[in-house]
Amino acid sequence: MRRSLVVGNWKMNGTRASAELLAKGIIAGLGSDHADIAVCVPYVYLPYVAELVKDTALALGAQNVADQSSGAYTGEISASMLKEVGCTYALVGHSERRSYYGDTNESVAARFRQAQEQNIIPVLCVGETLEQREQDQTFAVINEQLDAVINLVGIAAFSAAVIAYEPVWAIGTGKTASDEQAQEVHHYIRQYIAAKDQVIADKIQILYGGSAKPDNAKGLFAMPDIDGGLIGGASLDAESFLKIYHSI
Ligand code: 13P
Repeated sequence: MRRSLVVGNWKMNGTRASAELLAKGIIAGLGSDHADIAVCVPYVYLPYVAELVKDTALALGAQNVADQSSGAYTGEISASMLKEVGCTYALVGHSERRSYYGDTNESVAARFRQAQEQNIIPVLCVGETLEQREQDQTFAVINEQLDAVINLVGIAAFSAAVIAYEPVWAIGTGKTASDEQAQEVHHYIRQYIAAKDQVIADKIQILYGGSAKPDNAKGLFAMPDIDGGLIGGASLDAESFLKIYHSI
């Protein structure tokens, strides 16, 4: 049985005070240890939230990681820095990074490798735009996004990674993929991995992201290949994030 995982992505929101309040609210409502849970916090608030999550079941994640290990890369944050402040996870290849900041399949693969070199679990985000879906390019796009990473680090590296399927058209739009639409792509991703390594495919957590909310999470999480969620907007409110977590 795969353990489920719910990850909040706070994106560029909040203040130090609101970040601390949100983390405290989540910790207070964790309850039973039925699934893994993490929050991806803006870089500058990581140390504050790290203090609060210590000795709790709430894990800490970053929203990105540099594609280099150290050196003259102004503005970047390395995997070893993230490790030092207590990150367990780092998102790589979020669609907002890919579309607004030029993260390419190759740089995403390098970020994935950097994270793993510091024993940080990369959460590799993949997904198609609306235009790509309408042109029946969904699987081709996902193949390319996965292949860039597999080619750099090898399939074995996926034994310590998470994949998040986030259809770009569903992110922040209120348009969730239907349970069946999401399941179809999750199943495809698992089969794609299985063709290279069945054991890893059976084990890897594949999360759904894109307008996941308390009222649609249960249906999504009931799908056989959906192992949890990567939650944006609804993770900014402790109550809704916890409702999603508890609907697993
Ligand atoms: P929303 O849940 O706000 O659609 O965001 C999804 C997302 O991008 C999580 O990484």
